Amino acid sequence: MKKFFYAAIATLALGVSAEAATIKVGVIGPFSGPFALQGKNFKAGIDAYMAVNGAKAGDNDVEIIYRDVPQADPAQSKALAQELIVKEGVQYLAGFYFTPDAMAATPILQQGNVPMVVMNAATSAIVTKSPYVVRTSFTTWQTSTPIAQVAKDSGVDKVITVVSDYGPGVDAENAFKAAFEKAGGNVVEAIRMPLSTNDFSPIMQRIKDSGAGAVFAFLPSGPTTLGFVKAYNQNGLKTAGIQIFAPGDLTQESDLPALGESAAGMQTTFHYAVSHDSPENKAFVEAATKAIGNPAELSFPAVGAYDGMHVIYKMIEATGGEQDAKKAVEAVKGLAWTSPRGPVSIDAESRHITQNIYLREVVKGPDGAYINKEIKTFERQGDPGLAAVK
Ligand code: PHB
Repeated sequence: MKKFFYAAIATLALGVSAEAATIKVGVIGPFSGPFALQGKNFKAGIDAYMAVNGAKAGDNDVEIIYRDVPQADPAQSKALAQELIVKEGVQYLAGFYFTPDAMAATPILQQGNVPMVVMNAATSAIVTKSPYVVRTSFTTWQTSTPIAQVAKDSGVDKVITVVSDYGPGVDAENAFKAAFEKAGGNVVEAIRMPLSTNDFSPIMQRIKDSGAGAVFAFLPSGPTTLGFVKAYNQNGLKTAGIQIFAPGDLTQESDLPALGESAAGMQTTFHYAVSHDSPENKAFVEAATKAIGNPAELSFPAVGAYDGMHVIYKMIEATGGEQDAKKAVEAVKGLAWTSPRGPVSIDAESRHITQNIYLREVVKGPDGAYINKEIKTFERQGDPGLAAVK
């Protein structure tokens, strides 16, 4: 009887405090190791959103709990996601830089009654793994399709593709090939490299030997992309007139100081450039720069995280802080807003973000630092990859 009495009191106390409970959001990303700068950008985007919009969503305080997965490591990601749900009591999972880490956590969402907001991982199929996944980043299908037309229009007919051999790389390869061949071009060879590859000289030799007029490349942003673009230059491909076409992962702003003049003229297609000219982006860059400390470190994962927080705030408001993953996800289907990247919406069917994709060129900006300058807009692009995975 006594036991029942205490249990009833506890339930009552929970019920009362639930109204203004603190909502915990678990964020998984690379916060140490070679990709730490990408995780730092997640945190900068989250901090910037909370600095601009406050640390409350509706009546509820929001608390972020970070967990570090330094490199793609699905087992570790799943274990940490489980720990966040069971031990920390998070109501939302977010972050996920690498596709395998996002994929590994999708099976526990339904049972945990927890939505997942993917702030980076870019393989199309992730959103199909659970009805509780919403994505605010991009897919490599979305970013790699428009560059194929750009390559064809530049007069190139034969291209060799080079990608990291995992989800977003395979998607990028398929996206480029589909669009380039549709435009009348020919992919002469397709190279897939292990994710751990860091000596790119043999790859550069194969590109030269292929007889292709240009290379299409995708690698996940970080030391990988920096090394690849450096190798492209150092192995004489640029001087040999072999052009490079890629989604914007290869010229993320935080790599541009190290690449310097060697990246000048590189054309890429992507959803976000730090130089994007809009009042929303000006406010974002100001807040995110404050959060990250060094403006040269700011890069695209920050905008995926900033918009991811927007979605999470809307979910918390819609559920009044109650843990109801289904209701939370329903509430953001069709949600539209002006992101720092431009107009965006969450596609009601796929739960992936519809957005502009921009063609950009690396040029020297007004203050002498290199930037991705937007030169063309492909408006309101959905994910062409979803048809391919269905
Ligand atoms: C991914 O693993 O999905 C991924 C990581 C980094 C990128 C793009 C995609 O730049």
